[in-house]
Amino acid sequence: MTDTPDRFYVTTPIYYVNDRPHIGHVYSTTIADVVARYHRLRGDQTFMLTGVDEHAAKVVTAAEERGLDPQSWADQNAAAFQETFFSLGVSNDDFIRTSEPRHKERVTEYVTALIENGDVYAGEYEGWYDAGQEEYISENKAKESDYLSPINGKPLTKKRERNYFFRLSAYQDRLLALIEGGGFVVEPEARRNEVVARIREGLNDVAISRTGTGGWGIPIPNDPDQTIYVWIDALFNYLSAVDVDGRREYWPADLHLIGKEILWFHAVIWPALLLGLGRELPRRVYAHSFWISEGRKMSKSLGNFVDLERLDDYVARFSLDALRYFLTTQGPIGTNDADFAEAKFLEVYNADLANTLGNSFSRVTNMIGRYCDGLVPQPGGGSDSGLQEKAVATLEDYRAAMASLRLDHAAAAAVELVRQVDGYIERTQPYRLAKEEGKMAAVGAILYDCAEAIRIASLLLWPILPDRMATAWGRLGCDSYAHATASRGAGQLEEWARWGGLQPGTPVSKGDPLFPRVLAEPAPAA
Ligand code: MSP
Repeated sequence: MTDTPDRFYVTTPIYYVNDRPHIGHVYSTTIADVVARYHRLRGDQTFMLTGVDEHAAKVVTAAEERGLDPQSWADQNAAAFQETFFSLGVSNDDFIRTSEPRHKERVTEYVTALIENGDVYAGEYEGWYDAGQEEYISENKAKESDYLSPINGKPLTKKRERNYFFRLSAYQDRLLALIEGGGFVVEPEARRNEVVARIREGLNDVAISRTGTGGWGIPIPNDPDQTIYVWIDALFNYLSAVDVDGRREYWPADLHLIGKEILWFHAVIWPALLLGLGRELPRRVYAHSFWISEGRKMSKSLGNFVDLERLDDYVARFSLDALRYFLTTQGPIGTNDADFAEAKFLEVYNADLANTLGNSFSRVTNMIGRYCDGLVPQPGGGSDSGLQEKAVATLEDYRAAMASLRLDHAAAAAVELVRQVDGYIERTQPYRLAKEEGKMAAVGAILYDCAEAIRIASLLLWPILPDRMATAWGRLGCDSYAHATASRGAGQLEEWARWGGLQPGTPVSKGDPLFPRVLAEPAPAA
């Protein structure tokens, strides 16, 4: 498999502006960032979008409670999300807010087009309404949950409205064919099967407008009493952000990364809206699972959300890269939930980052300093380290893992390459050889292979560890990678990761440990 530079567009959900950012938001955005950086590293023309979803009714009530107008309240909170992502080193290319004119104008156009082609029509609706989610729930689902919200447990209410409806029912067969035929990829597979089973039960038309929002939201064209339902408004962000001159080539999106609870909107409603508009469908929707905290589900009532303060604390103690590493490698990619637990964080940090990556890097650069005058030594012709073959195989595994979004496997492949370096050092003991006469060429050859394998591992880990790997590159005399990839620049992974890239004679510098060991904090006094 080779990498051909391409164009790549990845999105995160746009987060409810009413919330304070927490681990869930940080997680989805961080893994989207890892994917975006991987594509930039490959040289792809990449666009990463995140943002906030502002037109929920809750925004109006929360603003009222604070004596603010909804826009000012949304402005404050949107800024908090933006600052959070900035301080976490997220490399999004844009941040969309659904209250921005650029979005509202596009959405008005989309809905006008759907009204004109008959996909949106006026009608009346009565059903069970989950006020917390601003969502109607089917009779079956309402019954199953004892007429309580499956999300927050509060009673559902019977609600009757004159609304605009989207003809979702008309798209059932096309959607099924697209999902089952792979034209529109929904992952992981278990989640796709759930979606397919539900579509087979039959699709009803859905209300896409609301009344009584007090003017907060995007009005239905020519019927200002009706506001476009916040979910429909929000889904359009993925298109509105790039449906402008200079960005159109990014559509269709390559990947919508979302959490499992919003898959229905992304795998059914969204593609159907796009079919209605005659637009191409996104190539892929991937729904990850959820973080829980120290073994317990996170909830507002338990007050155990891993919030920003907690995340900042990890950054202060372990570094931002370490947090990114933990989220990326231990997170709920796939269908299982993942536990954010202090003990596990410490274990993973010390095992992979301090004792493997950091330690190996220090050992190799120290030995080059001591035995090779701090210069990259000459490779030994016909070296039998096996590291070259291992690096080639690692690159293949890594690419495949990245393509299937197994970010944990991608990282594990790179870390395993570093473990091979450690094993090789143990076997050959260059520090012993260096004391024997006439063995300096052999020592140099060993260290060349070690440094080269580590250089390649550092490239593969850069999307997850952008700060520390750029430091590592600097010490290996590979500043050009850091220059190329700074400020969202494109890399050349294919070329850079080729064995033999390290030039003999290049100065190698030592420095502070990349990942200093961290001890467990003493348990707080009872
Ligand atoms: N505004 C809608 C999304 C509209 S997208 C067109 C929304 N917002 S949200 O603020 O509730 O964010 C939901 C997303 O946050 C989830 O889909 C997921 O990406 C992330 N997470 C929220 N809690 C989470 C966990 N506990 N664990 C992992 N991610 C979760 O829904």
